[in-house]
Amino acid sequence: MKKTLLIAAVFFSGQLIAQDAKMNAFITGLMSKMTLEEKIGQLNLITPGSGIPTGSVVSTDVEGKIKSGKVGGMFGVIGAEKVRQAQDMAVNSTRLKIPLMFGSDVIHGHKTIFPIPLGISCSWDTALIRQSAIVAAEEATADGLNWVFSPMVDVARDPRWGRVSEGSGEDPFLGAQIATAMVKGYQGTSLSDKKTVLACVKHFALYGAPEGGRDYNSVDINRTRMFNDYLAPYKAAVDAGVASVMTSFNDIDGVPATGNKWLLTDLLRRDWKFNGMIVSDYTSVNEMVNHRLGNLQEVSAQSIRAGLDMDMVGEGFLTTLKKSLDEKKITLADIDRACRKVLEAKYKAGLFEDPYRYIDENRKNEILTQSKRDFARMIAAQSFVLLKNNANALPIKKTQRIALVGPLANDRSNMLGTWAVSGDPQLSVSVMEGLLKQTASPVNIAYAKGANITDDPSLAKQANVFGMRAEIDERTPAAMLEEAVAIARSSDVVVVVVGEASEMSGEAASRSDITLPASQVRLLHALYATGKPVVVVIMSGRPLALTNIVDGASAILHTWHAGIEAGNAIADAVYGAVNPSGKLSMSFPYSVGQVPVYYAQKTTGRPMDPNNKFSTKYMDVPNGPLFPFGHGLSYTQFTFSDVQLSASSMTAAGAITASVTVTNSGFRDGAEVVQLYIEDKVRSITPPSKELKGFQKIMLKAGESRTVRFTIDASVLKFWNADMKFVAEPGAFGVGIGGSSADLKTALFTLTK
Ligand code: NOJ
Repeated sequence: MKKTLLIAAVFFSGQLIAQDAKMNAFITGLMSKMTLEEKIGQLNLITPGSGIPTGSVVSTDVEGKIKSGKVGGMFGVIGAEKVRQAQDMAVNSTRLKIPLMFGSDVIHGHKTIFPIPLGISCSWDTALIRQSAIVAAEEATADGLNWVFSPMVDVARDPRWGRVSEGSGEDPFLGAQIATAMVKGYQGTSLSDKKTVLACVKHFALYGAPEGGRDYNSVDINRTRMFNDYLAPYKAAVDAGVASVMTSFNDIDGVPATGNKWLLTDLLRRDWKFNGMIVSDYTSVNEMVNHRLGNLQEVSAQSIRAGLDMDMVGEGFLTTLKKSLDEKKITLADIDRACRKVLEAKYKAGLFEDPYRYIDENRKNEILTQSKRDFARMIAAQSFVLLKNNANALPIKKTQRIALVGPLANDRSNMLGTWAVSGDPQLSVSVMEGLLKQTASPVNIAYAKGANITDDPSLAKQANVFGMRAEIDERTPAAMLEEAVAIARSSDVVVVVVGEASEMSGEAASRSDITLPASQVRLLHALYATGKPVVVVIMSGRPLALTNIVDGASAILHTWHAGIEAGNAIADAVYGAVNPSGKLSMSFPYSVGQVPVYYAQKTTGRPMDPNNKFSTKYMDVPNGPLFPFGHGLSYTQFTFSDVQLSASSMTAAGAITASVTVTNSGFRDGAEVVQLYIEDKVRSITPPSKELKGFQKIMLKAGESRTVRFTIDASVLKFWNADMKFVAEPGAFGVGIGGSSADLKTALFTLTK
């Protein structure tokens, strides 16, 4: 058996080498015919500005540039017909007929929009997440695309930062598993398959940790923290074979990522052996001028020397590289390297074989199909996190009379969430539509808006930048409230749908106050005062500080922005067709003043002691979050046995097995995410209090038990030490297994020398 595997491995690696040699020969041949201008042209990525431009610059004279060989790729051109037009220009009008590549921000689905990535990550279901990328790739390629700017894998621990919505939360281990799943889903087993796309992991690196949670702000993270807490998901994407990497806007050690040689060349190319293409973010080369690194020519030269291959939108490369070459600020080898990387990406996508490979007008019927919508509905329900459920307030019986209230209850425009550039909000299902389809009788649903998303015109205006999302009603807040309270009084149960407008999170949407807007808090309190059970459905693109609304709620279902099928999926959960099983991938603070608050926080030299003034604590809130990482309830209950270890010690070459028996002790079938955490009891540098090192999502029928096993070997005990060595240090370790980072059964073992 082993021998067969070995032969197969040798055979396949032999094939790969042969393929690489063929590609290299082809590209060497092509490049020998290219002028300097043509090579520089390949490094230029432009957008004609349809879709959502995310900077102030949009490319000009697109047609002229394509025809004169000054463009390597485009994004924001969607649809087979439009892509064909642009590809025709490249293939028919340029001297060497080099095809263009076509990218897009396919972030959580292309047109069939899934929940925002932060929501999807709460499913903790890597097979499902991989499937979401497969479905998105199929739909994107049916629309002419061959490159997606995803996955976004920035570890983020500060919910003020709006882009937490686009990532997988606070944990590097979970983030790495998801990064792998996404890359494999998008790219499949062959990049040149008509239904796969080149993935682009972003934003390299550390973009998720801007000071103060303010987007684009400076990042300052020490080396051990960087390696131990932030880099794993990018590395996982590289190891999974991601075809491209996008640099981030922030600086690292004072050098913007886009021009950071240590980051792009020493770490990414040399240490991680990344051999794909490196593209900048939107005008991030130019922005190095604002970072005060020099003028456009200088920063462009710095970027290409640092290892950047493709320049997104800013045209610093296009307009200055020749001059820099003449002035010997860069070498021809720099340009050749970058050009080769861009051409390789196209080659791998099969574009030299067939520039029209992804352009097929007949594939329109693969877009927005019912089966894709069904998938969106299913994955949405898997992303919901049941934060609270007193006295089984949820699920609701279909015969109950519901007062459906809240600014997001009868709304389509916010369902898709941020970064749904190709999605049409009007195709989404509102909560009202979803409930109406499933209630025993439509008369059971009475609706009142109750409040505006916000009464603050300045916040509303910013939320409305891509269309009306936060409409301020003509009625007074008092009149709206009165109407809602009246229908609440004559109902069996209130379902109130509150939260953020989709554009209150996402890019350039940082908030210093992450509570629900005052208008909605007022509404919730008025509803609580009716004495009716109140089920709160919360939509948001980030963890919120919910302290001021938790107590009065009978149940809280956090649905994030759930995508095109939001309303149907929410109705599935509210009426119990689906039993929620999502677990938070990011902690919910009591108060923004605690931020960053995350489960892996270090213990400090003066651990929290309520009886000791001089211990680490706040005077007004607990140290930990309101809802911790890994938390999420179910309509059933799960009980965990004690942890059994196969041995109480192991060597670095050995392994032990940790097992628990999980029982569904409630009355419904349900899924539980069994989480494994490791506590390093003694370390040469201060460790996180605990670290997620494994998880398994299991489905258990009511009354069913299953034993779940985790293998613990040295690889899960390793960390980057002060000498930047990846080591496992002998000593005592704790093992914690449970259904939340804050509720674990524990055991101890020793790693011996
Ligand atoms: C800027 C964003 O940071 C990035 O994530 C996105 O891919 C590009 N704009 C292109 O739209």
